[in-house]
Amino acid sequence: MDLKALCFDVIEIAREVGIYIKMQESQLKQKDIETKSLNSLVSYVDKTAEKKIIAALKELLPESGFIAEEGTDETKGEKYHWIIDPLDGTTNFIHGIPMYSVSIALQENDQIVLGVVFEVSRDECFYAWKGGLAYMNTEEISVSKTKSIKDSLVATGFPYYDFKRQDGYFESLKHFANNSRGIRRMGSAAIDLVYVACGRFDLFYEYSLHPWDVAAGAFIVTQAGGKITDFQGGNNWLHGKEIIASNETLHSSSLAVIKAI
Ligand code: IPD
Ligand code: CA
Ligand code: CA
Repeated sequence: MDLKALCFDVIEIAREVGIYIKMQESQLKQKDIETKSLNSLVSYVDKTAEKKIIAALKELLPESGFIAEEGTDETKGEKYHWIIDPLDGTTNFIHGIPMYSVSIALQENDQIVLGVVFEVSRDECFYAWKGGLAYMNTEEISVSKTKSIKDSLVATGFPYYDFKRQDGYFESLKHFANNSRGIRRMGSAAIDLVYVACGRFDLFYEYSLHPWDVAAGAFIVTQAGGKITDFQGGNNWLHGKEIIASNETLHSSSLAVIKAI
């Protein structure tokens, strides 16, 4: 399979759907907003965006299956699965905050081989394919070379429905607040990850994320020279609901703090 060519086709799909989402910004009404579960919102925009993505991907790779947040299609593929978050940053979108993205990854057997994250408002498309490097629009990107937490900008996501680990999490926030340049909570895990990939953020960690939040962004981080693990330093970050992303050096120096969550 020509993953590079496929990646450029997926970029086109993500960009087109991003334009659709942006056009809906001014159309969205209060009555369009539904609650899926505690603090988890959705509207026709997420659902329509997902339908558009899946229809287009089916034409590209008819034999593939899907793992998609809104459950449009749950077909199991033999070898290939698309992991899709049609709108990552729904709460931002609904509140008129321009930080949201379209996230699409391709998994071949158990391995992610392609990732595209389109940050709609900034018109920045981040992407990578297996065997290639990582890019933002036409530029090659790489993770930061920052060596110490004191020079780092740290990104995270605050727990908003699973509060069981809150105390440990707040301890880690205290540590990074006291020892880093600052902490950001953007509201789109896919954007957090690609900002690590291009060196804007030095470190990102969050728990309770789903595969569609992280699949594409985490793959782009690895292709940009970064390291991705779960909170124990292991590989269970896609389905394990815990992720740390950073360069190799910061990863080792922050693992002990995050492990304790
Ligand atoms: C959310 C975003 C957010 C993260 C949440 C996710 P959604 O995804 O990625 O940054 O903190 O846990 O659910 O619901 O906007 O697709
Ligand atoms: Ca998401
Ligand atoms: Ca979403």
